[in-house]
Amino acid sequence: MQQIIAANWKMFKNATEARSMISELSKELNGKIPENRKVIIFPPFTVLEASFEAGKEIDGLCIGAQDVFPAQEGAYTGEISPQMVKDCGATWALTGHSERRHVIGESDTLVAQKTSFALASGLDVIVCIGETLEQREAGELYDVLARQLHAALVKLPTPLNPECIVIAYEPVWAIGTGKTASTYDIIEAHAIIREHLKNIIGVSVFETRILYGGSVKPENASEILSLDNVDGLLVGGASLKADSFAKILLA
Ligand code: PGA
Repeated sequence: MQQIIAANWKMFKNATEARSMISELSKELNGKIPENRKVIIFPPFTVLEASFEAGKEIDGLCIGAQDVFPAQEGAYTGEISPQMVKDCGATWALTGHSERRHVIGESDTLVAQKTSFALASGLDVIVCIGETLEQREAGELYDVLARQLHAALVKLPTPLNPECIVIAYEPVWAIGTGKTASTYDIIEAHAIIREHLKNIIGVSVFETRILYGGSVKPENASEILSLDNVDGLLVGGASLKADSFAKILLA
């Protein structure tokens, strides 16, 4: 199974910047993604289409939305539906990113609704989970991961292709802080996630990928990718520049 290397651009880049980053990335990769990797870029909604068009230069590049609302249309001012992002070329969506949980205040219930609606609408989904520093220091790692995972996956559509759902373990204290989790921390958390996924997904559990995210850089990417139960990376800051993102996806 290919490892996933995903770029979360957050609230950065206008259309010109998105096009030029993707065209530089194409040059770095000679227009081709390594066969053992799947690459997904999550740009802001406003540049989804521009990124999708520019991304045609890179064989196999996928585009995804950083969030979606759990309804196809309606009186939901400011929200964007799965069908709308699909119309712009997106085939993936992120749900439950820690900035949406902790800055915007999204609940486990809303993350679950978004996850199941996006999957039922035909998008593949990366669900983000992870503990805060306070929770880690209080010894709550296991409980937080178990709660967020079970809550987010409570209403999965059936039948479900286990490859269409991906979990990203992103310790909140490691996001954008320059503090990467240690290899021990990553192995421990990913093992907890795999154990719980077994109950939810069943025998095909190893077809569901678990990514690590939180201060991933060219310098630490290959070590993290070599760890047990790590099936890829979700990269924020280091995905904004073509050269650093190319180094990570070639790591
Ligand atoms: P970071 O962000 O790589 O800048 O820490 C990761 C993320 O938020 O997905």
